[in-house]
Amino acid sequence: MDYSIFTSPQRDNGYDIADYRAVDQRFGTMADFEELTKEAKARDIGVMLDMVFNHTSTEHQWFKRAVAGEKEFQDYYKFVDGEPDSPPTNWVSKFGGNAWEYVPAIKKWYLHLFDVTQADLNWENPRVRQELKDIILFWKSKGVSGFRFDVINLISKPDSLQNDDIGDGRRFYTDGPKVHQYLKELVADTGIEEMITVGEMSSTSIDNCIKYSNPDEKELAMTFSFHHLKVDYKDGDKWSLMPYDKIAFKQLFKEWQEKMTDGNGWNALFLTNHDQPRIVSRFGDEKQYWRESAKLFAGVIHLMRGTPYVYQGEEIGMLNTHFTDINQYKDVESLNYYNILMEQGKNANQALDIINQRSRDNCRTPMQWDTSENDGFTTGKPWIEIPEYGKSITVSSQINDENSILAFYKKLIALRKQYRIISEGNISFDIAVPEQIISFQRKLEDECLYVIGNLGETETQITVSESLTKGQLLIHNYSDDVNIMEKSLNLRPYELLAILL
Ligand code: GLC
Repeated sequence: MDYSIFTSPQRDNGYDIADYRAVDQRFGTMADFEELTKEAKARDIGVMLDMVFNHTSTEHQWFKRAVAGEKEFQDYYKFVDGEPDSPPTNWVSKFGGNAWEYVPAIKKWYLHLFDVTQADLNWENPRVRQELKDIILFWKSKGVSGFRFDVINLISKPDSLQNDDIGDGRRFYTDGPKVHQYLKELVADTGIEEMITVGEMSSTSIDNCIKYSNPDEKELAMTFSFHHLKVDYKDGDKWSLMPYDKIAFKQLFKEWQEKMTDGNGWNALFLTNHDQPRIVSRFGDEKQYWRESAKLFAGVIHLMRGTPYVYQGEEIGMLNTHFTDINQYKDVESLNYYNILMEQGKNANQALDIINQRSRDNCRTPMQWDTSENDGFTTGKPWIEIPEYGKSITVSSQINDENSILAFYKKLIALRKQYRIISEGNISFDIAVPEQIISFQRKLEDECLYVIGNLGETETQITVSESLTKGQLLIHNYSDDVNIMEKSLNLRPYELLAILL
């Protein structure tokens, strides 16, 4: 899982950092962290840290000194002189409202692409870049194995600031003018080229992701992109609901997977993280086909080309929170948008329904280990309530069950280690299949792996080539047998198979 552990006022769950060199006391001490990395290493596990370098908390001493009038630190952020009533541009914060905040004491506006307490850093300033490199070197010396770089493609802002008459401003700073130059410099000067690194890329493009992740460019090892998770946003709006568009979902994977292969880029593979709802609740079936749909999406991701990520609770099929009261939510984005939706005329039930489906808190409830108090996560008080369904989906109920979702994840991971075709093979998608069927092939030398899945909840028949009927069934997500000897294959709801030739 990814999570920021540094000292923070926790306005945005730790993505508002007040001190990059200290562990927030609510998570433990530096000694705990050092012990964790050491013990993890002894078990062949590497620890990666989340570097939130696009912005700091306004509680960071750099920001405090800036607003206290120190010019040197004002140059650490995107401050612009101005009058209280006219922000420099009409750019919109990703958490709602205008992206600029006025500081009367110094008569300047500062940019915050996220919460008002998350001030964007000024990467144009070489001193800022040096500070950030020093932070990486500090954690490198503590024995971490890699880094995730939070919204790293937003760090380079344009020289001239202008209003966006057709959008929210993102086109000016997304994959900005000097982003590749800054990344190359950061990587070269900290010597992290050989480490595992992943950049979180907001609203990015394939061409840029090839550049970020092609080894020749010496930037990052891989990229997270999100287009395939916007296929249930009506008119591109996260807060407008619609069932997910299966064709767009498949088409996006086809484009990203095939073009990243052609450009020798590398994808991070995922369907969920700490900012996304639970995948079973979102694209699967929480009830009748809970087990099958959780396994299907796991298989789709783990058998593609790239590096799969498992987010806490996904491997046991955890669900959305289904909270019944807005006060149960903690996430700043959810709370802001609840108010915005009400201002737009939604009633409380409608607004809650949208938040229930879209909130980032859906994925942020504690891991459900067992049926003891707080589902075995803590003897203390969790920061957020444990969902009502919590005790019905736990690790302890799956750990000895060979048909469990957990066992399926273990099998997928083992297969990737065992078969080079999964970890290294090329990929191409077959789009001439029924709407609810996803089908792709991996190729390595003279081997071929066919992955076929039914994304829908009705049975669907497809015809496969003669050769496929002679293949070896590598993995299958139903507990009973499937007959792959026939050219006409009947795929049950959410059924997934992978056949090796
Ligand atoms: C990333 C993080 C998210 C955070 C935002 C601002 O998208 O994943 O949790 O709110 O950046 O740091």
